[in-house]
Amino acid sequence: VNTVNNSMWHYWKYFALGVKYTVGISFVSVIIGFLLGILLAFMRLSKVKVLKWLATAYVEFVRGTPLMVQILFVYFGLGVLVNIPALMSGIIAVSLNSGAYVCEVIRGGIISVSTGQKEAARSLGMSAHDTMYSVVLPQAIRNIWPALGNEFVSLIKETSIVSIIGVSDMIYQLKIVQADTYRGVIPIAITMVLYFILTFAISRVLRHYEIKMNHKVDT
Ligand code: ARG
Repeated sequence: VNTVNNSMWHYWKYFALGVKYTVGISFVSVIIGFLLGILLAFMRLSKVKVLKWLATAYVEFVRGTPLMVQILFVYFGLGVLVNIPALMSGIIAVSLNSGAYVCEVIRGGIISVSTGQKEAARSLGMSAHDTMYSVVLPQAIRNIWPALGNEFVSLIKETSIVSIIGVSDMIYQLKIVQADTYRGVIPIAITMVLYFILTFAISRVLRHYEIKMNHKVDT
């Protein structure tokens, strides 16, 4: 006799594993995306035409195509040349995608520091390099921080798409639990609540540091 244990508590390990994958992929991708974003932002702001053009083209292309297709392309497309495991493909695609969005966040943050600040520093005799590192960037980082935290929250939600290539994230686990328990809705509801707990907790933590950072500057 086949007995179906459809108590959701019985499946907590599946949900926990999904959370682990979702948070892990988002965390790694937001870090790689941040580093890539810095590089792209400086390329876009540089006076070297080729760099500027390359970075702009990259950002426009990545933002102009769905993350879903990018993931499929990395997994199946590049997969023709080199065998990349699903998890790795997911991380690569999400990081490359995030880099384009972060580039714009950083570029905006740097531009938002008024030219008056830059001119004041330069007229006091600071070099262009010192002006960038001691005057513009410290202020830019404060402007960028909230948007960067937002990107992390976005990635928690956006990585749900990696389930299409079989990465065992929260959506993937949700489907396993549904199939195992013959219950359609409850696993969806649980997954939804779990996503919300994650995003809410992250924005709370980030908000805490944001206040702390502003406090330090204002007093
Ligand atoms: N879902 C949208 C897409 O498929 C947005 C992706 C957002 N990515 C990000 N790193 N914030 O393109």
